[in-house]
Amino acid sequence: AQEKASITVRKVDDAPVISKHIYGHFAEHLGRCIYGGFYVGETSNVPNTDGVRDDIIKALKELKVPNLRWPGGCFADTYHWKDGIGPKEDRPTIVNTWWGGVTEDNSFGTHDFLNLCEVLDAEPYLAANVGSGTVREFADWLQYVNHVGPSPMADLRKKYGRETPWGVKYWGVGNEAWGCGGNMTAEYYANLYRKYATFMTSWGERHLFRIASGANVDNYHWTEVMMKNIPQNLIEGVALHSYSFVEWDEKGSSVDFNKAQYFSTMQSALRMEELVTKHSVIMDKYDPEGKIALVVDEWGGWYDTMDDGMNSALYQQNTMRDAMIAGTTLNTFNNHSSRVRIANLAQTVNVLQAVILTKEEKMILTPTYYVMKMYNVHQDAKLLPIQLISPDYDFNGESLPAVSVSASEKDEVTHISLVNIDASKKVEVTLNLDDLNVKGFTAEVLTSSKLQDCNSFENPEKVAPKEFKDFKLKKGSLTVTLPPFSVVVLEGK
Ligand code: AHR
Repeated sequence: AQEKASITVRKVDDAPVISKHIYGHFAEHLGRCIYGGFYVGETSNVPNTDGVRDDIIKALKELKVPNLRWPGGCFADTYHWKDGIGPKEDRPTIVNTWWGGVTEDNSFGTHDFLNLCEVLDAEPYLAANVGSGTVREFADWLQYVNHVGPSPMADLRKKYGRETPWGVKYWGVGNEAWGCGGNMTAEYYANLYRKYATFMTSWGERHLFRIASGANVDNYHWTEVMMKNIPQNLIEGVALHSYSFVEWDEKGSSVDFNKAQYFSTMQSALRMEELVTKHSVIMDKYDPEGKIALVVDEWGGWYDTMDDGMNSALYQQNTMRDAMIAGTTLNTFNNHSSRVRIANLAQTVNVLQAVILTKEEKMILTPTYYVMKMYNVHQDAKLLPIQLISPDYDFNGESLPAVSVSASEKDEVTHISLVNIDASKKVEVTLNLDDLNVKGFTAEVLTSSKLQDCNSFENPEKVAPKEFKDFKLKKGSLTVTLPPFSVVVLEGK
């Protein structure tokens, strides 16, 4: 069976640039993301740089990770950064109360994280403790990482081996303040935010980017209060968290899912379009010039944990379903790039919709890794707005748009990313490219024989991008035949 879609790709002078920071990642002290994931320690047999796995560093560099959020998540509002500096053998332990109740030794701390970001050439995004911290603790962290010195915190940093400041620009003022960050009301948190932001000194030439803890999914009241009650000279971004799942109380397996569960997950994922549209409308009301960014700093698929008894909190596999979530969500972010300027996929290694899974010395790349890699061509490219008429993907009397698309141009190279979420039908897409001057295309596709297909430690390359040739360009009209559940990225010159 085959459906038809039509798309017009336009070139508009005042279109926004797609911030590379939409392609950010998130690494929390949770399960085996940091300990047993990124960080194996300096004495490990796994090749590492200062305790961080070399294979992970290589894979993330190839992904062009623009920013990395750390240390949480819910963990952030329990974390006391001073416990993670100085000689490792002297550091106190911390019990990860939100995730698994495991006792951590604080061996991965501020220096480890910020040095890793330097190696990755990624901007660090520190989520600081508001829920159980103090203004002084927060202000001290800023001075420690950003002040040249002399000052009490800069001197301490130098004593612990780092002469120059790291210059951290992106700061989260707590996390999920409505829930694990302190169960606050929006009004109470907005006041608290104002107090914390007042004492956030940049200590350097870089202007700080301060991000208010944001709404859960469709809590529009939260965004309204942040925009109304926080003076605009104190804020650069407002966050939003939204995950994709079958049902929150019945998430189901990450690999053994049926068509109904797939459809529900896609309903939940495609809702991101409505969420960013409605939160943006509120932001437009208070900030018509679009100065404050919508920061979707937690998104991704969430299924049942695959418990192997080894600190496995939120460990799950990653299939073609996740590739569909990634492709459609990133298209939404690209198309809303005038307001969505930072986003963070949850989470980088071994947690939720991970791009990397590890098992002892082995490491595999997931279908989501490949989507993020195929899409990194959009980073800092100018958006080409699109008009889309999509066929429906029908299931049990309900329907979703089958096709999702975004396009951009940089250095006279055009990129078009297309997704067909239909579980069984091909879609023939006709794209009107009259506004562009493209002579020819090359393309890659990510698909597989089953939606449930994934990469495993036994079969690590089962799902990987391949060259794609099922398209024709004729006089400004491009016809592409998208296989069922596929992601295609075309490059035109
Ligand atoms: O990403 C997992 C958790 O989801 C985070 O700790 C929290 O912020 C969110 O609820």
